[in-house]
Amino acid sequence: MSIINRKKQHIEICLKEEIEEKSYFDDIVLIYNALPDINFDEIDTKVEFLGKELNLPLIISSITGGTEEAKEINKVLAKVAENKKIGFAVGSQRAMIENKELIETFFVRDVAPSTLVLGNIGIPNLNELSSEEIKNALKEIGADGLFIHLNPAQEIAQKEGDVNFKNSAELLKKLVSELDFPIIAKEVGQGISKEVGETLKNCGIKIIDVAGVGGTNWIKVETFRGGSIPDSLLNFGIPTTCSLLELKNIGVDLISSGGIRNGLDIAKSIAVGAKICGIALPFLKAYENGGEKGIIDYIDKIENELKTVMFLVGAKNIKELRNKKYILKGFTREWNEQI
Ligand SMILES: Cc1cc2nc3c(=O)[nH]c(=O)nc-3n(C[C@H](O)[C@H](O)[C@H](O)COP(=O)(O)O)c2cc1C
Repeated sequence: MSIINRKKQHIEICLKEEIEEKSYFDDIVLIYNALPDINFDEIDTKVEFLGKELNLPLIISSITGGTEEAKEINKVLAKVAENKKIGFAVGSQRAMIENKELIETFFVRDVAPSTLVLGNIGIPNLNELSSEEIKNALKEIGADGLFIHLNPAQEIAQKEGDVNFKNSAELLKKLVSELDFPIIAKEVGQGISKEVGETLKNCGIKIIDVAGVGGTNWIKVETFRGGSIPDSLLNFGIPTTCSLLELKNIGVDLISSGGIRNGLDIAKSIAVGAKICGIALPFLKAYENGGEKGIIDYIDKIENELKTVMFLVGAKNIKELRNKKYILKGFTREWNEQI
């Protein structure tokens, strides 16, 4: 099956089927402050990330590219990202590297001239793509940096999956040394462990997006496409909350994603150690159900909820939120005790 048809099916399945896992964010409790020295109207949610100022610590995670429908989705999401001053990432650019006619389905700089825009490529593609080709793909869309996705669980469940991950770290190290763009390593929904984080750091990676278990489950998406994996492994992976705790002390910047659904999840992620957060599926659903307005409303809701939580924990800006105490319970607490 062509990449293009696969991309179409991914969107269809993500919108129609039950492919989301329950998140573990209930395991993190922020502590109420009954005497906040704060005027709600002065709460500041701005952050700087990769040299760009964002109004919220939020990026629209990599979703798509390559088809007419993908072009429209990317344009609308990126336009709102620009107006709301949040980040935006395109889906895997492999298709546009193979077929230059598809560049326009990834290009959003016409509607998002100034905000943070990130490219995307998969680690299995490093076997066949040169650093030069990847650099050109980033330049062609005017990206500020690159997400490189690590997705062995998705590939093993995919019927046409690429399951040769041999030498991946060496290939990544080479890419980091040859590419003069910031590179962020991400999963796609199964999380990243401390050991893998340290290997990534040794490859020169300075930012990791945990993309853990708790939101879109790509093992399940691929089984809906006819792939297979033993039933016992349908939920395999590291919850987002646990992955953040695994990586928080290894000396890299963290993005929290995988099941982030609201402002409270964002506040908890920041308190645990993330610099910013990423959301994918809810943005696709907001686009499908409400178009541009649906996406704007969703971001407004997130912003209001984040500000409200910040008021209730006594944090007037994101820096203060980072230092707020939290309580761990349940599975995430058990995990944390054994790291
Ligand atoms: C329809 C769809 C397509 C996606 N395509 C990509 C992709 O091309 N590259 C990538 O790194 N991640 C891709 N992702 C994964 C997301 O970037 C994200 O890591 C994952 O969905 C978990 O976040 P969520 O729970 O907020 O959806 C895709 C997600 C969706 C919903």
